[in-house]
Amino acid sequence: MQLPVLTHVATYRRRVAASTERMWENVRDWEHLPFLHRTTFRSIALEDAGHWGWRARIGLHPSAEIVVEVCIEVEKSRYVSRTVRGAGAPSEIWTKLMPVAPDLTDIEVEFWLFDVAPDRVAASGAAYTQLYRALWDEDESMMVRRAQQLARERTHERTPERCLLGPAREVRAKLPRCIDWAGRPFRIVAIDGELVVHATTCPHLLGPLDEAAVERGSVTCPWHGWRFDVRSGRALDGRRARLAPPPRLETDSNGDLWLSDPHTA
Ligand code: FES
Ligand SMILES: [Fe+2]
Repeated sequence: MQLPVLTHVATYRRRVAASTERMWENVRDWEHLPFLHRTTFRSIALEDAGHWGWRARIGLHPSAEIVVEVCIEVEKSRYVSRTVRGAGAPSEIWTKLMPVAPDLTDIEVEFWLFDVAPDRVAASGAAYTQLYRALWDEDESMMVRRAQQLARERTHERTPERCLLGPAREVRAKLPRCIDWAGRPFRIVAIDGELVVHATTCPHLLGPLDEAAVERGSVTCPWHGWRFDVRSGRALDGRRARLAPPPRLETDSNGDLWLSDPHTA
């Protein structure tokens, strides 16, 4: 069988504020595509995954579907993303990772397309470069935040007995309010008039639940779409994960709102 001849249309280079560990984690993480990159991808259905990489059916906006295979060669510090079916197939996007510091990695992304007319090469290259700049911006912000959260998880702060938030009336007037409790992030929201505190670190990969609005009592993680009931902290969709237990909210006789250790009487 004759292999299709692909044309190199552009190379995109940039420095990413992430370690190679975070980068490989991101490359293997197929699940984030329709959530973190929701403006580019509509859906994903995994077909296969293994040490070699993964293959999935990916929905594009508004209705197209493609099949993509990501093959990873860690020993060569590179991976290739092949569109094997659907719009643009066959095509190959080769990415090389070059560590420059513990939390900095240079990347070089080559775009190879099939059947590109010579007068369309520059425009196709520019379109792919623009798309990948946006995708890598989103990936970088996720990896930076995850690295910060991992560092935070390694620190241990003493749980305070109590902490004054202020007059309940003023707290209610400025919701949602993000707070720190024992070195961990939480958020106070009102659900049907009731004040509720919930952890804003997703138990999956430490995603930022503070970036998601509470809707009908639940919150959806912007990284992979896991959903949690805010009052109970339980994961929805049949998952067993749970949000970290929040501090207790109490209003004293002066109308002041306090956070307190839920483990003390
Ligand atoms: S970090 Fe993956 S769903 Fe929240
Ligand atoms: Fe990504």
